[in-house]
Amino acid sequence: MENKTHWEQIYHTKESAQVSWYQLHPRLSLQYIQNTGIAASAHIIDVGGGASTLVDHLLDVGFQQVTVLDISQEALEIAQQRLGERAKSIAWLEADITKTILPHHEYDLWHDRAVFHFLINQEDRQRYVDLVKEAVKPGGHIIVATFASDGPESCSGLEVARYDPQSLHNEFGAGFELLDSAHEEHQTPFGTEQKFIYCYCRKQALQD
Ligand SMILES: C[S@@+](CC[C@H](N)C(=O)[O-])C[C@H]1O[C@@H](n2cnc3c(N)ncnc32)[C@H](O)[C@@H]1O
Repeated sequence: MENKTHWEQIYHTKESAQVSWYQLHPRLSLQYIQNTGIAASAHIIDVGGGASTLVDHLLDVGFQQVTVLDISQEALEIAQQRLGERAKSIAWLEADITKTILPHHEYDLWHDRAVFHFLINQEDRQRYVDLVKEAVKPGGHIIVATFASDGPESCSGLEVARYDPQSLHNEFGAGFELLDSAHEEHQTPFGTEQKFIYCYCRKQALQD
């Protein structure tokens, strides 16, 4: 099945609060984003944001320029309906992160929770990293969360690649400085636990 069809089907058949990755309060993502000290006017992109509540919290704390990108239109519509009028202040992009193009040096902060780990082919990971290099401003912030090396081997019926902070940073390479990392034991809505890692990197200031 095509990747897009898979994800549209997931969001069509499951309640957004009944998927394993659901978080009412994305604590670590928010903590990392707020700790960067970026301005309220900074441009943030949540890659594979889906129906995540992160966008609601970003608006709550005052961020004014937020983009949510996801392969699933259905997921974006769930978030839009939940936000109501507030959805109008968000830029919504329906796109496959391994195939899309994004504006040059547009984003101050790139956030991805539980998308990069689905890229099990080296070519897809390379395209993703090339897009980060293209779209994030020099000196910009990158926060990526994946399943940890002792986390689940699959998610939503799809195989994943698992990482520790060093191996995740290695995927991005020398143009990115790893500044911090954290482990999270995510409690799913079904009462099980999933081990995640979060990496916080900065793109080199003088990189193209
Ligand atoms: C496990 S969910 C995580 C959602 C959200 N980041 C969160 O933490 O709640 C993975 C999300 O990535 C999206 N996705 C999967 N592959 C993608 C791709 N190649 N490009 C863009 N989005 C993708 C899915 O539609 C889904 O919303």
